[in-house]
Amino acid sequence: MDFYEVVEKRRTVRNFKGPATEAQLMRILVAGTKAPSGMNQQRWEFIVVDDPALVEKIAERKYVLNRGNKPRGEEVPPEVEKAAQAQKDSFANGSHVAVYYKEGGRDEAWMCLENMSLAAVPEGLGTKISFYRAGAEKDIDKILQVPPGYELACVLSIGVPAMEPTAPTLRPEGSWLHRNKF
Ligand SMILES: Cc1cc2nc3c(=O)[nH]c(=O)nc-3n(C[C@H](O)[C@H](O)[C@H](O)COP(=O)(O)O)c2cc1C
Repeated sequence: MDFYEVVEKRRTVRNFKGPATEAQLMRILVAGTKAPSGMNQQRWEFIVVDDPALVEKIAERKYVLNRGNKPRGEEVPPEVEKAAQAQKDSFANGSHVAVYYKEGGRDEAWMCLENMSLAAVPEGLGTKISFYRAGAEKDIDKILQVPPGYELACVLSIGVPAMEPTAPTLRPEGSWLHRNKF
């Protein structure tokens, strides 16, 4: 697959019908580790989460986060509830990798994540970033028994797309371009 085709075809997938195979997962992770890093420090760490009980905890924490950190049962507007539930449901049937970085390595972790997202495309797989913040990331650390000194970039879900994702609206080409001054 031509590189630009890979770039065009990469889409966030929030509905999987199956996980990546172990071989695919490893190829994707290895592609991630070919990313550049500050002084070649390669401060990324990957936790493959395939224990269903842990996946449930991670998905539930995302659900709560997307309800504005309001626990299950506490009322939120229906559209918020629907979106939060969709985020939780998007963990079904996929493979999941929590991407961590050693302190200071955030930027290279994200470069690594882009490599992984692109590598999934010729494998016929889609990816989804789940971002944790507002304290939720610390709960993920506890769930996954992460030692001090490491921070969560995101959980990357990878799997066989259950449907063709729709392309997002992009800013008009060139609207972001400046030359010599802003
Ligand atoms: C830093 C970052 C955080 C994101 N967090 C989430 C998230 O928590 N849940 C989600 O469904 N998508 C998340 N996304 C995916 C974006 O919503 C998606 O990339 C964007 O809408 C463009 O769509 P595309 O990836 O199909 O091009 C995140 C993407 C980035 C780069």
